[in-house]
Amino acid sequence: MAKVYVTCRVFPEELERLRAAGHTVEMRDAPGLITREKLLGKVSEAEALICLLSDHIDAEVIEKAGKLRIVANLAVGYENVDLAAAQAAGIVVTNTPGVLTETTADLTFALLLAAARRVVEADAFVRSGAFYGWELLQPHLGLEVHGKTLGIVGMGRIGTAVARRGRLGFGMDVIYHDSHQSKPAETELQAKYVSFETLLEKSDFVCVHTPLTRETRHLFDRQAFLRMKKTAILVNVARGPVVDEKALVWALETGQIAGAGIDVYEEEPKVNPGLLKLQEHVVLVPHIGSATFVTRRAMARIAVDNVLAVLAGEAPLNPV
Ligand code: DGY
Repeated sequence: MAKVYVTCRVFPEELERLRAAGHTVEMRDAPGLITREKLLGKVSEAEALICLLSDHIDAEVIEKAGKLRIVANLAVGYENVDLAAAQAAGIVVTNTPGVLTETTADLTFALLLAAARRVVEADAFVRSGAFYGWELLQPHLGLEVHGKTLGIVGMGRIGTAVARRGRLGFGMDVIYHDSHQSKPAETELQAKYVSFETLLEKSDFVCVHTPLTRETRHLFDRQAFLRMKKTAILVNVARGPVVDEKALVWALETGQIAGAGIDVYEEEPKVNPGLLKLQEHVVLVPHIGSATFVTRRAMARIAVDNVLAVLAGEAPLNPV
């Protein structure tokens, strides 16, 4: 029976399924991330690794992993894994697709609404005891959302789920940019395919749902912000490096755009100090797109299912 190492805390019920199948499971039972040293040590004995997006499974880790058969990444993204090195070593890599689409779309909309309507600032205001009663020109006047133009960059599963919320829930006009046109989004949501430049110029809300690739790194740079409306809000729940964080701070500080709702950062867990200082129409959350009990449990279940399959000599369910 095999040794499974888990780099982070995972729902015990899911790990029990591995034990019930006869495997030995060791879980790092502490908050925060595993150190590099510990990862290198543990991986050398494991036959299966369940790990986080924040664990760098690079060529050095793969080299140390003499017995490893599967890396089950607890995420839909897998840019933390050196796929070529894993493939060369005959190690299967799996992810957790499908289960976090709607949950991440919900958070996208939460950020969009919170930034537009200044929910976080207004909450702090009430808690500080500063609320003195209703008046016409209250301190937290915000931006309209319903009926505005929603620009989606990356009309994949999550982008489409966000577009659906915008179109059907808030009567928004949806425009999008992607490497491919999406017929379902065009038919169901009357979404209109436009160039990236047109999207920047026309959108009141720009939501980023594109994966991080060589082409999308710093897609949102100063030039991109210069094209956006001064009243626009940027929402990024995709990957931090798609946005040049310095350029974003510049755009917000100079009023080049009105606000931002940010879930992911260029060098997580670091956040640009300039961004931390900005509050008006700016909402920052700590990479919680998929963070509901139901979804995180489903992600754990998928990772365990993949490990069980591979250790039983079967094909993985979600290979990448
Ligand atoms: C993913 O799965 O790729 C997310 O960013 C983590 O929720």
